[in-house]
Amino acid sequence: MANTILVGAQWGDEGKGKIIDVLTEQADVVVRSQGGSNAGHTVLVGAQQYILHLIPSGILHRKTKSVIGNGVVIDPLTLVVEIDKLEGLGVCVNGNLFISERAHVVMPYHRELEACSENRKGKNSIGTTRRGIGPAYMDKMGRGGLRMVDLKDKKIMTKRLKSRVLENNRLIKALGGKPVSLKKVQSDYEKAAKRLRPFITNTLQLLHKEINRKSEVLFEGAQGSYLDIDHGTYPFVTSSNTTAGGACTGSGIPPNKIDRVIGVMKAYTTRVGGGPLPTEDDAISDMLHDMGREFGATTGRPRRCGWLDAVTIRQSVLVNGINDLAVTNVDGLDTLPKVKICTHYRLEGKKQNFVPSDLDDLAKCKPVYKTFPGWLKDTSGVREWRHLPLNARRYLKAIAELSGAKLKIVSIGPARDQTIFL
Ligand code: IMO
Ligand code: MG
Repeated sequence: MANTILVGAQWGDEGKGKIIDVLTEQADVVVRSQGGSNAGHTVLVGAQQYILHLIPSGILHRKTKSVIGNGVVIDPLTLVVEIDKLEGLGVCVNGNLFISERAHVVMPYHRELEACSENRKGKNSIGTTRRGIGPAYMDKMGRGGLRMVDLKDKKIMTKRLKSRVLENNRLIKALGGKPVSLKKVQSDYEKAAKRLRPFITNTLQLLHKEINRKSEVLFEGAQGSYLDIDHGTYPFVTSSNTTAGGACTGSGIPPNKIDRVIGVMKAYTTRVGGGPLPTEDDAISDMLHDMGREFGATTGRPRRCGWLDAVTIRQSVLVNGINDLAVTNVDGLDTLPKVKICTHYRLEGKKQNFVPSDLDDLAKCKPVYKTFPGWLKDTSGVREWRHLPLNARRYLKAIAELSGAKLKIVSIGPARDQTIFL
């Protein structure tokens, strides 16, 4: 498999968790390199469903090392809950999980600051997951953050916590929010730090050692390309680089050690939170929600749904250098007599082949569709490409052609075996 970066090609929730889980069979190490507990990666193993927020999906494979890289922002309290839950389900975390000393820490004041900002924006809010992700990255860039290495020593941690809590409480008060209790933060974080200390390490050394011995490393992207802080639909984005480059900066593995990039996308489009979505369609949303699908794994919010948007996928292929595509949730379209792909937009009468940087322009873009006959067959039991209905194959081939990448994986359900390799 070689060293592979896996990214979401849309707005997150593309089914990355499942594809990672399937690919992990061949991987020695799985790395998360950006984002935080805003991610919700759902993996189904047999009848057991796991929802992972911070821990790489590789943890579900006993022989695989799971690394939380320097680019991730970690809420220690959430991480402890996640470890406990996994251990309760019989997953072996000890000895398999490695947390970068350089990863930044999400603090309760980050959550409170985010709540202040989102509440103030009202109906123009970003619709964040309210996990403190944005303010944690602001603190990192502002050089005021705490890192996991600071949690290794109780004395240092206590001292730094005090000064940061006092300063941020002043900010929170000025914004009309609820200051956090220093005493509670100190006791909660000491408890969590105690639990996490054995996992905190120099992951840079570990990763390079693995690469030198020709281990296969899989980078598990979180969120999606259009939530990227630079390349997404700013400001309706998350605060990290979700595109392929983020895997390198967020782990310390240089670009010349990467062999391929896989882009994961749904056979249609979804988005949670605010911001323009050119191909949004109420009928598809209702159909998928009625099927019990497309509710957020982290927040439970219903996702906004629409037709597949090839303009965004093409641009994703360029920005990420996507070689191979994994198309998920194809079975979600099984009951439709017709399916559509947006091939380009029209913006004020002109043909538009790329995603405009100006959000007002994007909101004005009218999708131009190519319509395909549906397949009207249950695909969830199909295990081979040639057994897929002809119309489904045509639709999938059109996606690959329009996007400029190779179609490599088709997913027709959440289970490990509901996967077709081409
Ligand atoms: P996975 O890894 C879908 C969205 C939020 C919001 C915006 C900013 O499961 O694909 P944030 O809390 O990050 O500051 O919110 O980004 N968002 C996601 N949407 N999947 C995710 O992760 C997301 N992580 C953040 O809904 O619009
Ligand atoms: Mg999600």
